[in-house]
Amino acid sequence: MSTTNKPLIFTVLAECKVCKARVSKMILPHKEVDTPVFMPVGTQGTLKGMLPEQLEKLGLQIMLANTYHLGTKPGPDILKKAGGLHKFMNWNGALLTDSGGFQMVSLLKLAEITEEGVKFQSLNQHKSEVMLTPEHSIEIQNAIGADIIMQTTRWLDRCLGAHSKPETQSIFPIVQGTLYEELRIISVNDHTSRDVHGFAIVVEKAKMISGKWYTYVLTFFQKNKPRYLMGVGFAVDLVVCCALGVDMFDCVFPTRTARFGCALTMTGQLNLKKDFNPIDANCTCSTCQNYTRAYLHGIVTVYPVACHLLTEHNLAFQLRLMKNIRDSIHENRFPEFVADFMLNLHPDRNYPTWIKDSLAAVNINLL
Ligand SMILES: *[C@@H]1O[C@H](CO)[C@@H](O)[C@H](O)[C@H]1NC(C)=O
Ligand SMILES: *[C@@H]1O[C@H](CO)[C@@H](O)[C@H](O)[C@H]1NC(C)=O
Ligand SMILES: [Zn+2]
Repeated sequence: MSTTNKPLIFTVLAECKVCKARVSKMILPHKEVDTPVFMPVGTQGTLKGMLPEQLEKLGLQIMLANTYHLGTKPGPDILKKAGGLHKFMNWNGALLTDSGGFQMVSLLKLAEITEEGVKFQSLNQHKSEVMLTPEHSIEIQNAIGADIIMQTTRWLDRCLGAHSKPETQSIFPIVQGTLYEELRIISVNDHTSRDVHGFAIVVEKAKMISGKWYTYVLTFFQKNKPRYLMGVGFAVDLVVCCALGVDMFDCVFPTRTARFGCALTMTGQLNLKKDFNPIDANCTCSTCQNYTRAYLHGIVTVYPVACHLLTEHNLAFQLRLMKNIRDSIHENRFPEFVADFMLNLHPDRNYPTWIKDSLAAVNINLL
């Protein structure tokens, strides 16, 4: 759909006059994406319990897929023959793939790190060894064909060199968000000097984010490029990090918790009980239009249809939250939105310190 030969065009449309929040349009080869955006995770090219056409109807513009899982099954050869993951899974929106490194670290046993790559040992009885090299990660991600792809940590230049589709896929380098400020600054400087279209940041926990973190990481990025905070998806974290100037988020949480029978609301996670109200009287999703908490309570975690119904609601919740954030930035009332959101969550005004400190660093004071 793109009429230019740039794989990513990012335009800031509105900025909060108080904090660092902004609303932007990100034009990708397969879709125009409104940011700040939350991206749900479709691990193996499927978002569990939802058809791609249902996701499109919900207004989802972009989702994430996992390089390691897709590289293992169906593998790059099938994906190449299929003409890429978009066609293979029947998804017309935008896609983003991770580097594969995170899954390898969590699913395999780390064997050896060399300059060539990282060697992993499979944990199953076959005891086979797998090597993750930057070239291999980029080859799989080129076969998947996502609009945005991730660099394997440490080897940005080898990733850029191995990239075979720079006209249709953008590489985002990953900046390490450790607690060591000097290391972060080195990592950020290393990345901002390269010709890349956006930046990804990893932190171990969103709670580690603070006003300081903003000062040491986000201020170094060029303002005209998107900033993607990986693995963050609790509503409260999204609100705080939008205030700090983050544009993109992903997390398995909203869809995974749905499969465990948990529904998301503005006041937190709802445990379904035997009452005849919808999950959220203000939610316009099809689950809330037609099904009661009592009905859902009787079927959650047991029947696949309940997985669908709760996933639909949780995705609608995340999408609505992001739209409310964007609207309030556009309408110049984002600081009030944040204060109302936090008061609703903590009516006793007993706000966690990390929230107060992070928001104070960008001039938002809570009620
Ligand atoms: C629904 O929205 C209205 C108006 O914003 C609000 O007063 C009310 O508390 C909301 N109800 C629920 C169940 O969230
Ligand atoms: C609710 O169910 C009815 C059928 O009973 C259907 O016609 C309608 O489209 C459903 N509403 C939504 C929002 O899906
Ligand atoms: Zn709903």
